[in-house]
Amino acid sequence: MPELTVDNLQLRYGDNPILKGVSLTLNRGEVVSLLGPSGSGKTTLLRAVAGLEVPHQGTIRINDQPVFDGASGIDVPAEGRNLGLVFQSYALWPHKTVFDNVAYALRLRRIATAEIRARVEAVLSQLSLDGLAGRFPHQLSGGQQQRVALGRALVYNPPVILLDEPLSNLDAKLREEARAWLRELIVRMQLSALCVTHDQGEALAISDRILLLNGGRIEQQGTPQQMYSEPETLFAADFMGSNNRLAGRILEMRDGAALLEGDGWRLWGTARPGATAGGEGTGMIRLERIRIADGPGDDRLQAELSTSMYLGDKWEHLFALGNLRLRAHGDRPLAAGRHWLDIPRADFWVF
Ligand SMILES: Nc1ncnc2c1ncn2[C@@H]1O[C@H](COP(=O)(O)OP(=O)(O)O)[C@@H](O)[C@H]1O
Ligand SMILES: [Mg+2]
Repeated sequence: MPELTVDNLQLRYGDNPILKGVSLTLNRGEVVSLLGPSGSGKTTLLRAVAGLEVPHQGTIRINDQPVFDGASGIDVPAEGRNLGLVFQSYALWPHKTVFDNVAYALRLRRIATAEIRARVEAVLSQLSLDGLAGRFPHQLSGGQQQRVALGRALVYNPPVILLDEPLSNLDAKLREEARAWLRELIVRMQLSALCVTHDQGEALAISDRILLLNGGRIEQQGTPQQMYSEPETLFAADFMGSNNRLAGRILEMRDGAALLEGDGWRLWGTARPGATAGGEGTGMIRLERIRIADGPGDDRLQAELSTSMYLGDKWEHLFALGNLRLRAHGDRPLAAGRHWLDIPRADFWVF
């Protein structure tokens, strides 16, 4: 039985539809990410689950109990839903210590002092914050503040935690460490988590499943591997990963393959849903799938090197062919001039 079930949720602000019929489930011990561009409705969906926004239609069930039902008028207030919330701005109380920030929710629930102490200490220890109980938020690093915010959500053992861009206030390096730490914690504590992020790398790294939102609808959902390797739409393909896009016309379709033609080039690719012979088509290939080849061959085209960037662990080369621009990775610098690029048809999707 899922911990959380959302069915056909619709929500608008005034006349403006924001969620247009979203359904999802979150199973026990699972991390599901809500991924999507800014404005796609991720925060609105999370807030609706939390009870902070009122949808006009649909149902939300927690542990098989309805907490919202548009048809029968059920709307359990946020505090009755018992969910752990972690917001983008950690919203710690600046004049309370770490201990008191974490203890606050338990005090509201009138739990005995000795038990509060035991539970807060256990959570601080889980979060490696043992020595910091007496500090105030301004005496903590960003990463430590983020963990206190998490501790505050975890201390009353909610069945589900909701995280809205929990790592976005951290700088890039700390963020990578924190996401590994967060994933490890969620798995170790067997938490069920719904996590909002606009960062596809973060969603791939921490999730068991990803729901990709586009304009208030679920564009596609699946495991991180499915989302990355088997995108069903151009939007999904483009949103996940770093890509080359090649606009053209589809000349021919044969056995699941499509021949795409642009200005001065022709390539076979794998036909994806929506591709039709005679129509406009868009080819898409991940940067890391293009190879720099040493001569002509099938699935290759020749392009002029425009510039190269050294990225530390690799090079990124920019090529031009007419008005087409292509980016590819390589392990060494390249001489100026024309080069052959290998575009394997299995990795070249045509939408
Ligand atoms: N309180 C509000 N009143 C009116 N419109 C809102 C409100 N909150 C969000 N929106 C609009 O709803 C859309 C989705 O917002 P949001 O859920 O915050 O997106 P995301 O978290 O994916 O960036 C945006 O177009 C935003 O402008
Ligand atoms: Mg948001």
